[in-house]
Amino acid sequence: MTSISRERVLILDFGSQYAQLIARRVREQNVYCEIVRHDISVERIKEHNPQGLILSGSPSSVYEEGSPKCDPELFTMGLPVLGICYGMQLATEAFGGQVQSTLTREYGRAMLTVDTSSNLFQNTSDQQQVWMSHGDQVANISEDFTALAYTDTCPFAAVKHNELPVYGLQFHPEVTHSPEGGEILKNFLLNICGLSGTWKLEDFADETIARIREQVGDKRVICGLSGGVDSSVVAALLYKAIGDQLACILVDNGLLRKNEQAAVIEAFTNHFQTDLRVVQGEARFLDRLAGISEPQEKRKRIGYEFIECFKEEAQTIENAHFLAQGTLYPDVIESGAAPDGPAATIKLHHNVGGLPEELGFELIEPLRDLFKDEVRRLGIELGLPEHLVWRHPFPGPGLAVRCLGEVSKDRLDILREADAIAIEEIQAAGLYRETSQAFAVLLPVQSVGVMGDARTYEDAIAIRCVNTDDFMTADWSRLPYDLLATISTRVINEVKGVNRVCYDISSKPPATIEWE
Ligand code: XMP
Repeated sequence: MTSISRERVLILDFGSQYAQLIARRVREQNVYCEIVRHDISVERIKEHNPQGLILSGSPSSVYEEGSPKCDPELFTMGLPVLGICYGMQLATEAFGGQVQSTLTREYGRAMLTVDTSSNLFQNTSDQQQVWMSHGDQVANISEDFTALAYTDTCPFAAVKHNELPVYGLQFHPEVTHSPEGGEILKNFLLNICGLSGTWKLEDFADETIARIREQVGDKRVICGLSGGVDSSVVAALLYKAIGDQLACILVDNGLLRKNEQAAVIEAFTNHFQTDLRVVQGEARFLDRLAGISEPQEKRKRIGYEFIECFKEEAQTIENAHFLAQGTLYPDVIESGAAPDGPAATIKLHHNVGGLPEELGFELIEPLRDLFKDEVRRLGIELGLPEHLVWRHPFPGPGLAVRCLGEVSKDRLDILREADAIAIEEIQAAGLYRETSQAFAVLLPVQSVGVMGDARTYEDAIAIRCVNTDDFMTADWSRLPYDLLATISTRVINEVKGVNRVCYDISSKPPATIEWE
């Protein structure tokens, strides 16, 4: 589904690690944007009807054979174009400029001297810090261009075409190390593209609701609920759109966190009165996991059983034609589908348990155009409770991959209690939203302790808490010692069978966030 929002900018992706970041920065200026392939044709661009184009950076060199190129006609369409780094080099080269390798790759902060009379740099400083990351730079511009900014080592750090609305920046305005970059992007979007900067999530919700109603007609839609934010927002949006034509399925696999089933029931039967079906699957899942300690085998078995449970319940829902999923924009981009291509292949990892196509439903993915922070804002607007909207991510295989070694009801109960205490204390310290993911892990070892006069030989719990933007890399959270002390004391006192608590101080990479 693409948005029918009126104003938009297209971001042509030349393989930059920053393309998504550019998109987020543009949306922060309340301008809707989409990332498309670098080789999109001019005809296809016209179909999108954008008010401006942004060309991203790239790890390639413009003069290398086979490097990603764009249709050169797009520079002369009359549409405003902002080339960033590689994008700028392409733009200047298209008009006869020269791009050369710099002797050493320039990576880091640089001081930029700017012609602030240009509308691109309006309301920014004439000397400003920017972030550079390039091995090539524009050595010569043709007479079609004028330089707008320079640094000690880069004579053409910003350029403008003399007649056409084509601009280039050698530095990266989208990263926070360019503190005035947001203002520069805003100037491009509002002054140069003439956009109003009024794109709002409410409009997105209204448009999406209207489209869902049209698509669904009088059929029913099934939505798998996991307790996580994405599926909850999908369900809330669908409920607003089609009311009781929505049927939600929560498969309780016995691997959920403490009170998780109750929280979902509260939100989706009391708050939103949806037709919620809870599959009580604990016994089935634990049976299937008995004796299994290998992490991938656990995942496989849980995935298989989930599909079975889901299928059985779905078959009892009459007139069900659609399946709603909480696929987000980063999933779509990573799977290579966003760049103007055909439908997405959803990444199993991020999907509610990974439902196969054989289920035979038509997919509805109403969050396909949104980033995670936008999904959260939308959730709040739709009236979902804050604790659900701000919940840390939780893996599909649930506590099974945090109960190291064999999984049993007794071990899961120990883990559930310890996890609830850790989260409660992190929340009480006001640090839940400042951390990205926090949880307890039950280790497959016992260790010696002493209680009163007696020697104990009991379980050990590890606490994992990380900060991350994208979950691809992560750093362990520097939680205050006092907080760690409270968690440790409470877990050891309140959870029977645990006599030791450790804090995980490994970063990803080389460690992963989960222990299995
Ligand atoms: P790792 O452990 O790979 O985790 O650093 C990165 C993020 O992915 C989550 N994760 C999973 N999510 N099914 C899921 O739905 C899985 O099998 C799975 N394994 C890891 C993890 O919680 C973290 O947010």
